[in-house]
Amino acid sequence: MLDNIPTRNLALELVRVTEAAALAAGRFMGRGEKEAADHAAVEAMRLVLKSVEMDGVIVIGEGEKDNAPMLYNGEHVGNGSPPELDVAVDPIDGTRPLAFGRANSIAVVALAPRGAMFNPGPFVYMNKIAVGPEAKGRINIEKSITENLKAIAKAKGKAVEDLTTIILDRDRHKEMIAEIRKAGARIRQIPDGDVAAALMTAMPDTGVDVLFGVGGTPEGVITACALRAMGGEIQGKLYARDEHELRNGREAGFDFEKILTMDDLVSSEDVFFAATGITDGELMQGVRYYGDGATTDSLVVRGLTGTVRQMTAHHRIDKLHLLSAIKY
Ligand code: FBP
Repeated sequence: MLDNIPTRNLALELVRVTEAAALAAGRFMGRGEKEAADHAAVEAMRLVLKSVEMDGVIVIGEGEKDNAPMLYNGEHVGNGSPPELDVAVDPIDGTRPLAFGRANSIAVVALAPRGAMFNPGPFVYMNKIAVGPEAKGRINIEKSITENLKAIAKAKGKAVEDLTTIILDRDRHKEMIAEIRKAGARIRQIPDGDVAAALMTAMPDTGVDVLFGVGGTPEGVITACALRAMGGEIQGKLYARDEHELRNGREAGFDFEKILTMDDLVSSEDVFFAATGITDGELMQGVRYYGDGATTDSLVVRGLTGTVRQMTAHHRIDKLHLLSAIKY
């Protein structure tokens, strides 16, 4: 085995994709222009994806939810050579925080072998619980929040009062928040960005122990790829906003009661994930522009090895403009 040559780490190519999206989108920080920022990120991502050596098909695209410019589901990406892969993209997770200059807006991409990613169809929301490696195997979305908090606290050798939960600040979470308060855990309510929030549970020093709540299904699948590689866990359940969605979903064969385990969300360990900060956050710094250059801060993760790289890149925008069609 010792003379086995290490195989390629596609995440190292992917990071160029998320860096490009972040560099293009970062210009829109605080400008209040969600669509224009999304458009810039999508175009940059699409262009650099062409250079990645893979036969990729987008399974998790973004945009249908709010008619944003899209890297659409079914779109072929990569240079067309093997391996055949499923691709999940979120050119900006946190379009609002970017548009209004708030924290934790990131660009993300994930890859898995063809057929490995869960396809949520038109269902945009999923109830989620996500934890880092220490609490892996101890969560159960079927159980109450209180029971989960007790199990996580036990796994981490803490009291429930010591746990920090993170949850999107949405009306639909009123009951969950009341239960977390009653159980005694601390709460961070965030305006947006449950991919970054879920990853925080798996990164040391963020102080975040568990993500609860209903967020996007695309974000759920992307999070599953990342947490799978980082040794954490996410479980989900499709969430219907109303009776109409529930009925349509059931007719189309979707099961809203089924627990979506990490294996259901992405069935292979052979995943790749890259994320780049657009605005400053706990996981990564946002893009910094200076004169003829910029710096980006990224996470580069590979499932088979579990390697997590934190990568700072210094980009020479004056030079890039000579080579690239992307406006940085
Ligand atoms: P986008 O920036 O891609 O729109 O997603 C932001 C986000 O906060 C996600 O992180 C989260 O999963 C989803 O929106 C929640 O949806 P909603 O804002 O409709 O509650």
